[in-house]
Amino acid sequence: MPLREVVQFPDPRLNKVSEPVTEVTDAVRALARDMIDVMYDEPGIGLAAPQVGESIRMFVIDTDWSDQEIGKQPRVVVNPEISDREGRITWDEGCLSVPNYNAIVERDETITLRGTDLDGTPFEERAEGLRAVCIQHEVDHLDGILFIDRISRLKRSLYVKKRKKQLADELE
Ligand code: NI
Repeated sequence: MPLREVVQFPDPRLNKVSEPVTEVTDAVRALARDMIDVMYDEPGIGLAAPQVGESIRMFVIDTDWSDQEIGKQPRVVVNPEISDREGRITWDEGCLSVPNYNAIVERDETITLRGTDLDGTPFEERAEGLRAVCIQHEVDHLDGILFIDRISRLKRSLYVKKRKKQLADELE
């Protein structure tokens, strides 16, 4: 089966606030598997459901899989909540939905993530550094926020201009 396509800026589906998952159905489990496939294929370290056009509160993450000794350990997070934020950190972020662009974003350095897995089992994870950044980035997607919404207006407008030109060039 072909992989799902990643929705890209300025697609308005990326700006929607996603709905909580009320029941983990077979369709939700199938979506999670599809998202994991897309994440590794792109490649990326996280992917949120709206990025494949599904407006539900679920994301997948695997921040260490490029390290061959660690290997692939995807985590599926349903209905995530972030709490116990500590410290600040800056990171050079990119996004599969924001092509050809990176920018420094300031985020919380250490966080606690709570959510449920695909069996409906609640879990808690304390995360710091890249993993904490990635979790905040993915939860932002579920709230219709992209990392370019967290940079200066000037930088954002320069990117939007560049992206529009790129899309226009693709049509020619
Ligand atoms: Ni992203």
